[in-house]
Amino acid sequence: MTISATLIARLSNAQSVCVLTGAGVSAESGVPTFRGADGLWSKFKPEELANFNAFIRNPALVWEWYSYRKKVIKEVQPNPAHYALVELEQRIPNFTLVTQNVDGLHRRAGSKHILELHGNIERSYCIDCSAFANDIVLDESKEPPHCKHCGGLLRPDVVWFGEMLPEGVFEQALGAARRCDVFLCLGTSAVVYPAASLPLEALEQGAYVVEINQEYTDLSSRVQEAMLGKVGIILPQLIQALQHQ
Ligand code: OAD
Repeated sequence: MTISATLIARLSNAQSVCVLTGAGVSAESGVPTFRGADGLWSKFKPEELANFNAFIRNPALVWEWYSYRKKVIKEVQPNPAHYALVELEQRIPNFTLVTQNVDGLHRRAGSKHILELHGNIERSYCIDCSAFANDIVLDESKEPPHCKHCGGLLRPDVVWFGEMLPEGVFEQALGAARRCDVFLCLGTSAVVYPAASLPLEALEQGAYVVEINQEYTDLSSRVQEAMLGKVGIILPQLIQALQHQ
């Protein structure tokens, strides 16, 4: 993949960069994406697993699914796309990494300024007293875990369908999208709102918007550049091109 001279120039001169990542950025680490042939949603119905009512109806089933995902995430490592974003952050004065991923891989790679729009799978909280709990591991009984303070049911600290995003986090992401010079939209199908509105906001404010995805999305025809390929390959090439400036 050739990196365009315009993108290199834009990034070299950028004061402010905003990046939105989706499940495709963790795919090369071995974390399944949500949509598409191998997507998680093709094996599980989201309405059965990722909404609050379903959780209250069958907390054991929802916890079993999250335990499986937690186990997968614990066993994988950040990939070259995550590390390329760490390097990009070091080059840009004002850098914001907005992620829809709940796997914590950006933090493990070393990224600093991260906004987790959809929460983090490592954290849990009590649905009664809101106390946080970390590193919940189900025991063999597979009973849903309970709060050690009040005995209430614990739930994963992730955003489910129909729920609000964590307070203030989306507003910060929106601010970053609106003031950035370059916006990168990476490995996301860009269909889940409000995250999907961020590249559109950036476009509206005149940012140079680039998508990297292994397939075209609804966003592709609207951005300045839609690069087709794997983020784990293209992002390191981009960093190399910047270094040789
Ligand atoms: P999706 O599974 O919807 O989309 C993943 C995107 O990544 C697809 O467009 C793929 O083509 C692309 N992709 C896969 N592997 C790639 C690679 N190696 N390089 C480049 N692109 C690649 O995942 P998201 O867009 O993240 O929300 O989904 C958004 C939200 O939907 C998730 O955060 C989750 C789900 O509902 C909640 O759980 C609230």
